[in-house]
Amino acid sequence: ASTSVKLNTGAEMPTVGLGTWKSKPGAVEHAVEFALKNGYKHIDTAAAYENEKEVGLGIKASGVPRESIFLTTKLNNPDQRNPAAALQASLEALQTPYLDLWLMHWPAPMTKDMKADKEYDWLTTWKDMEKLYQENPDKLKAIGVSNFSVKFLERLLKEAKVVPAVNQIELHPSCPQQELVDYCVSKGIVVTAYSPLGSDNSPLLTNPVVKKIADKYSVSPANVLISLQANRKSVTVLPKSVTNERILANAKIIDLTEEDISDLFAIDKTAHFRACHPGWTGFGSLGFPDCE
Ligand code: A2P
Repeated sequence: ASTSVKLNTGAEMPTVGLGTWKSKPGAVEHAVEFALKNGYKHIDTAAAYENEKEVGLGIKASGVPRESIFLTTKLNNPDQRNPAAALQASLEALQTPYLDLWLMHWPAPMTKDMKADKEYDWLTTWKDMEKLYQENPDKLKAIGVSNFSVKFLERLLKEAKVVPAVNQIELHPSCPQQELVDYCVSKGIVVTAYSPLGSDNSPLLTNPVVKKIADKYSVSPANVLISLQANRKSVTVLPKSVTNERILANAKIIDLTEEDISDLFAIDKTAHFRACHPGWTGFGSLGFPDCE
């Protein structure tokens, strides 16, 4: 696996980044500082995680120059009607003049009280994001999306002026999404894997297939799961941790064989444990319509 992947903007995105979903303020500042001091060059956050301020403080505390870091944040669903103000707020919270990547978090505009904003179209939001990107090259190095299925990407690409640089989606052996990954690659969209371990209390960490491959290479099950994503073409990966030893260990990527990879993806058939639906369906309970 290579240490970085080239975006359709020409910029390089480091293959492994520190995820910060569910990293609490207080813990995340230290995690970001520790990761950057120990070789990470890629940090992923989101307005919705409510930790951008601490992520910014961690970056400052690390002493690593901003230009050596690939920093991603995301537009929160209730801010889809006003992306310009949300961008400004994220830049201020992170104490940074620019973002390496800014993603639409979900194709799901919401009201301030977190209900489906059915009167609003996420495609309008994307057009606003494109405009912000084209008019503010000093603030936005790349734009992209997250939690987009093929259907949603098809609708976006039909009208887009800017092809998203990235689609960030859930990927792990119980959520391989190969068809979606192939589609993104065919359109020049890099895929970023979130929850590569299967998120909190993941049964994948004790799965016998994962353990067997981990033993073969004398690494941990987490290394195998993270490496699985890093070994896919045009895929970057965001292991989340606030624990020093794990942050260190998770950066180690190993090369897996074709057989290892097919064995890991075969887990899917027996060990589904989490919903894995990109697109509106992720918020299905809120009554969003499906994409037509
Ligand atoms: P913690 O942050 O307390 O270290 P994912 O990246 O799939 O979202 O998974 C994140 C979860 O996995 C968190 O609960 C995190 O705990 C835990 N985790 C992160 N790295 C490892 C590791 N190397 N071994 C075991 N658990 C890990």
